[in-house]
Amino acid sequence: MDPGLLAMLIAKARAAQAHAYAPASRFAVGAALLGVDGRVFAGCNVENASFGLTLCAERNALGTAVAEGVRAFHALVVVTPVVEPAYPCGACRQVLAEFAPKLPLFLVGRDDRIVRSTVEQLLPHAFRFEYSGT
Ligand code: THU
Repeated sequence: MDPGLLAMLIAKARAAQAHAYAPASRFAVGAALLGVDGRVFAGCNVENASFGLTLCAERNALGTAVAEGVRAFHALVVVTPVVEPAYPCGACRQVLAEFAPKLPLFLVGRDDRIVRSTVEQLLPHAFRFEYSGT
């Protein structure tokens, strides 16, 4: 990916991270999803007093994109507040695989350490509608 484009996506993810609502974990996550049309959709985690209702940054970004009519993506940047970048949770991997199984991932740590991966690498054999005949 073009370094300028990646820097822009990291900045957007960090801006969303600054809005994370994480009173329980204090673990603020930001995501920036680049649509094939060039638009960027950001998301942050939103926790809840009923812990299981917490929304992850990645799925929030994806939901916003879908609501804006975008379902195909070039890349996802996820920023986490740790030196060694954290990987997306299993639920986010499955939801991302629905739209973009080969999506390139850029996982970014606190000091801009970047780990590259793809949804397929993190979740081979994701469950698909075809398996259930739908
Ligand atoms: N979190 C995300 O936003 N994305 C992930 O992929 C993993 C975890 C959030 C959920 C919760 O608010 C906090 O990080 C700690 O688990």
